[in-house]
Amino acid sequence: MRHSAIYPGTFDPLTLGHFDIILRASRIFTRVIVAVAVDTRKSTIFPIEERVAMTSQATRHLANVEVTSFRGLLVHYAMRRGVHVVVRGLRAFSDFEYEFQMALTNRKLEPHIETLYLMPKEEFSYFSSSAVREVVELGGDCRGFVPKAALPFIRRRFGGRRAR
Ligand code: COA
Repeated sequence: MRHSAIYPGTFDPLTLGHFDIILRASRIFTRVIVAVAVDTRKSTIFPIEERVAMTSQATRHLANVEVTSFRGLLVHYAMRRGVHVVVRGLRAFSDFEYEFQMALTNRKLEPHIETLYLMPKEEFSYFSSSAVREVVELGGDCRGFVPKAALPFIRRRFGGRRAR
């Protein structure tokens, strides 16, 4: 599993920025496990089944990408899967402090795990899941922010009138 990586996140919902990171990782690693967190500090809008389903559907054409959920600590899950590389996206300087804390905490917990950062395409670097949720909640068009596969999930959750 030396050439495998885990890309963890909440994906509430999956955005084009997340998708861009998955695509980049899938070109570098022989296998990418997109791990959707059950235990996150955030209170989520989409239940875990829907976050997994929308991510699976958006990535089903990528043969080396597996989408799954995980409970508990990320480092424990990674070790159980025999994977030593965690991939995260770094969008702007403002991400740094949060990512720095997470990477070093994970390293303290499990020194064999390395975190690698990839930068999404510039046009996606200002996206966030919470911004997408706000756009939809306030009646905006989210089609330019999320993969097509996520749209039915967003429509169902927010009502067709809102998620155009
Ligand atoms: N494109 C678009 N948005 C991106 C992005 C990208 N490439 N990269 C990050 N983001 C945004 C997300 O949209 C999200 O925005 P929001 O907070 O406004 O909704 C935010 O950045 C981070 O979301 P995400 O990438 O989904 O990751 P996360 O920070 O929610 O994930 C876990 C955190 C799940 C990895 C972490 O909580 C975890 O490992 N949990 C398991 C328990 C554990 O091990 N805890 C110890 C960790 S120190």
